[in-house]
Amino acid sequence: MKRVLIATGGGDCPGLNAVIRAIVKRATKERDWEVVGSIEAFNGILREPTEIKVLDEKAVAGIHVQGGTIIETTNKGGPFAWPIKNKDGSWSYVDRSDEMIRKLQYLGIDAVINIGGDGSQQISQALYEKGLNIIGVPKTIDNDLSATDFTFGFQTAVQVATEAVDKLVTTATSHNRVLIMEVMGRFTGWIALNAAIAGGAEVCLIPEIPYDINKVVERLKQRYSRGKGHAIIVVAEGAKPINGSISAKKSEEVGYSNLQLGGISAVLAQQIKEAGFEGDIRQTVLGHLQRGGIPIAYDRILATQFGVKAFEMVLAGRFGEMVAYRHPDIISVPLKDAINRPNLVNPDGQLVKTARGIGISFGD
Ligand code: F6P
Repeated sequence: MKRVLIATGGGDCPGLNAVIRAIVKRATKERDWEVVGSIEAFNGILREPTEIKVLDEKAVAGIHVQGGTIIETTNKGGPFAWPIKNKDGSWSYVDRSDEMIRKLQYLGIDAVINIGGDGSQQISQALYEKGLNIIGVPKTIDNDLSATDFTFGFQTAVQVATEAVDKLVTTATSHNRVLIMEVMGRFTGWIALNAAIAGGAEVCLIPEIPYDINKVVERLKQRYSRGKGHAIIVVAEGAKPINGSISAKKSEEVGYSNLQLGGISAVLAQQIKEAGFEGDIRQTVLGHLQRGGIPIAYDRILATQFGVKAFEMVLAGRFGEMVAYRHPDIISVPLKDAINRPNLVNPDGQLVKTARGIGISFGD
């Protein structure tokens, strides 16, 4: 029997379980492959006793409709930066990648499928360079990976954000208020831009187009030209004013190396008031609602395509590569190409032009 190990790393995302199920279903057809999952990314391999779980058809039955990941995930630590507590209470980070590769050999793992975003795929590439038979599957609600047209989970996040705009519109109109909605996306504005168009926002602020607060207020004043009015502002967590900085802090969680973004909606509300707008303003931070719950059909299908392709790449020995979607095909690309630049919104691209065409202001 040959063994393939699945790990899910980074922030969770609707569709992860659909990928796991598709890998298992496709592998089952081969009869000589067993699928196992490492619990909480690669932590399950690194922990003593080992935490792995056999994934057979029974274990994955019906999970494509569930959010989250049945094998858990983490965006802290990892094989190259494993946190160790020092005697004085401080933390050091050690490289346990060689030890992990030896353990995988001991466990009889022939191939690894690592489902994760840019951070996880950087780990995949580094493990591949050390000789591990590894394949990447791109995952993120942010859609910020350039090698693929879309990542699964993104459309579900856009749906959640759009439904939130729809709800905010009714209360904004009733109270003649400006309602600011902050969405995720890290250093990209994909969720914000799509939700602003689909929901019908007046202003959309994204990291790729730094905003001028006076331009934002100008648009709001237009909306209130007859004394009353309302407006919806969708702001991406990574948005920033011209010559300003993003709202973020360094996390105090052990092993969390990413910047923790968030807080721009409160900053923006203050800036709008200071720039002379007199109407009422409220903020909503959509947060992890965008990542939870069932994946919409589009993401289930894309995730299933990624899972089947990933296992077929294992069979074909396409290690060091990542599954990608290039319409209309599901292809594979070298991991090193997939992680070398982020997928940013093009300020001159069609979607921004469409948004401008229906009167959405980017504050520029
Ligand atoms: O990358 C996905 C994402 O949800 C980002 O949009 C967000 O900034 C980040 O993860 C939040 O991560 P955490 O799980 O640490 O709150």
